[in-house]
Amino acid sequence: MTALPIVIVAAIADNGVIGDDNRLIWRLKTDLRHFRSLTLGRPVLMGRKTFLSIGKPLPGRETIVLTRDLAYRPEGVHVAHALDEALLRAQRLGADMGADSVAVAGGAEIYRQALPLADRLELTLVHAAPEGDAVFPDWDRNAFDAGARESHPRSPDDEHPFTFATFRRRV
Ligand SMILES: NC(=O)c1ccc[n+]([C@@H]2O[C@H](COP(=O)([O-])OP(=O)(O)OC[C@H]3O[C@@H](n4cnc5c(N)ncnc54)[C@H](OP(=O)(O)O)[C@@H]3O)[C@@H](O)[C@H]2O)c1
Repeated sequence: MTALPIVIVAAIADNGVIGDDNRLIWRLKTDLRHFRSLTLGRPVLMGRKTFLSIGKPLPGRETIVLTRDLAYRPEGVHVAHALDEALLRAQRLGADMGADSVAVAGGAEIYRQALPLADRLELTLVHAAPEGDAVFPDWDRNAFDAGARESHPRSPDDEHPFTFATFRRRV
């Protein structure tokens, strides 16, 4: 089985903030659609706190929730107790689904652990500097080539301007 690429999907403010008090801190409808298109039909890995903040399994995707709590068994998702276990499960599910990638959807703790393994980063660079307690970890920009960028202005649907930016790991 060829391993599916691991893709980190994150929306990051200019000051690095990604969330506060376990919730999203902006209203960006265009980014929600972008997230859907990057994750639909694929396995999606997330930490227990991010799953709590979403509140339900994502439709049309296989959600894998990471927790160290062996008794935690929410309905409608797969549960894994270590990153390598989660990734193995995601690879198997992805192969069964005919997916082209495995998505890693946060939060900060999961991004930090998955970054060294990521093949691609699909970042939404949100041009704002909100306060927040969850921050995207430092990452080695030299290990990635910058790819496509697409800028979007602030609009009635999107409360801040933002840029979709793709980074691919150098081979
Ligand atoms: N802007 C974005 O794109 C974006 C995306 C996602 C999330 N967020 C934000 O990020 C924040 C949440 O991030 P966070 O760092 O606090 O939490 P998180 O990464 O969502 O979840 C952390 C939890 O995952 C489990 N975990 C982590 N590493 C593990 C491992 N190696 N093995 C097993 N379980 C593991 C632990 O669960 P247990 O405690 O149950 O053991 C840990 O408490 C929220 O504010 C959310 O809104 C933003």
